[in-house]
Order: sequence, then structure tokens, then C-alpha cells
Amino acid sequence: MKRVRLAVFASGSGSNYEAIAEACADGRLDAEIVLLVCDKPGAKVLERAKRFGTESFAFNPKDYESKAAYETLLVRMLQERGVDFVCLAGYMRIVGPTLLGAFEQRIVNIHPSLLPSFKGAHAIQDAVDYGVKIFGVTTHFVDETLDGGRIIDQGAVVYEGSDIEELTNLIHNIEHKLYVKTINKLINKKY
Ligand code: GAR
Repeated sequence: MKRVRLAVFASGSGSNYEAIAEACADGRLDAEIVLLVCDKPGAKVLERAKRFGTESFAFNPKDYESKAAYETLLVRMLQERGVDFVCLAGYMRIVGPTLLGAFEQRIVNIHPSLLPSFKGAHAIQDAVDYGVKIFGVTTHFVDETLDGGRIIDQGAVVYEGSDIEELTNLIHNIEHKLYVKTINKLINKKY
């Protein structure tokens, strides 16, 4: 049977991309990343993709007249490569109807909070500011809203300290395991 073909979308550091790439390489995932898409030319994730030999495509959304224009291009690239699932991994952009329509129920995201609490780009800091004691991570199908869509998996972190860096590391460690678990569910159609 052919290995499941993944595309990963990222905007920043790419530690989640790397966790998925490692799991593909060591057999925990019966999948391969056939394209890394990055909307921030110069982002660290592009160096990581180079190290793993993943084809990457970096683009600046401002160079396109609309979201529909660059998503039309992305859909074509994904279809040409036979992509089965799109994994958003720190892709800090709302996905539009062009991409959602072409990959219905096949786009997933990871977010560093127990959704539906603390959506957005500063979830960990927002939760700390709110006085949260049980933090977490969520994977979910993607819809047209910010960090919205049906939840697939969640993991919790109990933390009562005050070191945001330590907390962020704990959350990232959970993310890296949770994303692999979720992708395995997608591969085995158990969601
Ligand atoms: C991750 O913590 C991910 O959950 C978060 O961005 C980070 C990317 O880290 N995503 C969101 O906040 C989505 N709203 P990484 O680049 O090291 O994988």
C-alpha cells in the first residue's frame, strides 16, 4: 500500500514539522512529507526542511492579489503531488474557502491550548495571564474560523510555576507526540 502523502504548512520555527518528519523517517508514521509550504520566506522551518530533504515552497502572501489567488496555486501544487492530508504546524493564517473546498476534512491543525479556550497567536501567554493551571494542546480539523473545527485529540499539562519558557517547552513536547498520534488516526481513518 502506498505511504500516505502529507503536506505541512508552517510560518516559523518548525519544531512540529521536524517531529512529523522524524516520525516518518523512523517508521512511527507510515507517511511521507512531500511538500513543506511556508508563508514567511526566511523562516527557520525552511532550514529544517532542507536538512530532511523535503521539497519546500516559500511565498509571500503580499505578492498575490488575494488569498484565493495564492490558495489556487497551493491547491494545484498539492494536487500535483498527490497530497492526502495537509497538516498546519504553526501556520499563522486563516485557511480560505479555496483550500478548504479542495481538501474537505483533510486539513488539520495543532494549537497550544485546550480549545475552544485561548484561540489565536498567543495562546500560552493568554492562558498564563488568565491564571490557568491546566494547560494543553489540541489537534483539530480546520474550518474557516480561527483555530476552529472538530477536535481530534487533546493533551493536558498541569503547571503551577511561573517560568513561561519552561511551560512552553512542556507544551511543545506534548505537541510533538500528539501530532504523530493524530496523523496516525488520519492514516488509519480512526477519527
Ligand atoms: C506551535 O506551538 C503551534 O501549536 C502553534 O504555533 C507553534 C509553532 O511552533 N500554532 C498556533 O498557535 C496556531 N494558532 P513550531 O513552529 O515550533 O512548530
